[in-house]
Amino acid sequence: MTTLLKEKILEENRRVHALENQLYLSRHPEQTNFFQNFIAEKTLDQICCDLDANAKILDLGCGTGYLFLRFLRRGFNVTGIDLSNEMIQVLQNSISESEENRAHLTVGDVEEFFERNQEDFDLVVFSAVLHHLFDYEMVLKKACQKLKTGTKLMIFFEPLKQSIASSPRYTLHHGLSWIDETFYRLQMRMRNIPLLEDEYHHSDYQRQFGGIDPRNIEKVLREENCSVLNIEKYCARRSGITAWLANRILKTQNTFNLLAVRN
Ligand SMILES: C[S@@+](CC[C@H](N)C(=O)[O-])C[C@H]1O[C@@H](n2cnc3c(N)ncnc32)[C@H](O)[C@@H]1O
Repeated sequence: MTTLLKEKILEENRRVHALENQLYLSRHPEQTNFFQNFIAEKTLDQICCDLDANAKILDLGCGTGYLFLRFLRRGFNVTGIDLSNEMIQVLQNSISESEENRAHLTVGDVEEFFERNQEDFDLVVFSAVLHHLFDYEMVLKKACQKLKTGTKLMIFFEPLKQSIASSPRYTLHHGLSWIDETFYRLQMRMRNIPLLEDEYHHSDYQRQFGGIDPRNIEKVLREENCSVLNIEKYCARRSGITAWLANRILKTQNTFNLLAVRN
């Protein structure tokens, strides 16, 4: 039963990301708007200043290269793994000839990757991928067990599982979300970009449980001899303006980033 469900989730991820491919980031402006772009660049600045120039970075579930390309353009050696051949193809086409010797791409399941990989990395990244996994705890455990002392682990842009008190602040939060989604739909229709919402089914599996609880991740990491250095919680929105309002005025949260190190 468990194996069947796990296979189904993998299959749905392959199917839905084959459809996403080159329009992935156009369809997900919550990752590219000015507010999120600022968070991504700030986070990378903080992490990269501790890395050697020839550091090796592993981007698990790299997709079309949201973080992969940023690391590559900062001069690092980057290895990317993704289940979807189509997403990897889009990423491959975005890599210039001068960057090719530092970029390594593989199609595959993150879980299997850890079973056969012997290589050491200085930074391991999961960006918007844990919520797509059937058993993210087990994958995190396997990842930690393969890390050498001092390796950093970054979890980025995951949906935050939290209990929300029914406060006026969160009523406004939902109102703002409604406005944001309405404009988003209109914009996608005007740009002729099909929404794939009805295609997702089980592919972002952890969302049906309300997202991912960072306290749970902390527990797993502690058990695997890692220390959490930082957790950042914030509100992601389709548009930069609504993200700015949600974070600066309402101060609500729905997303988190986490940085840890292997002891
Ligand atoms: C939401 S996208 C995020 C892509 C990219 N990391 C980013 O931040 O834009 C999730 C990615 O995880 C990949 N994925 C899902 N399940 C996976 C698995 N078991 N192994 C490897 N990749 C997986 C999908 O194919 C997709 O490209």
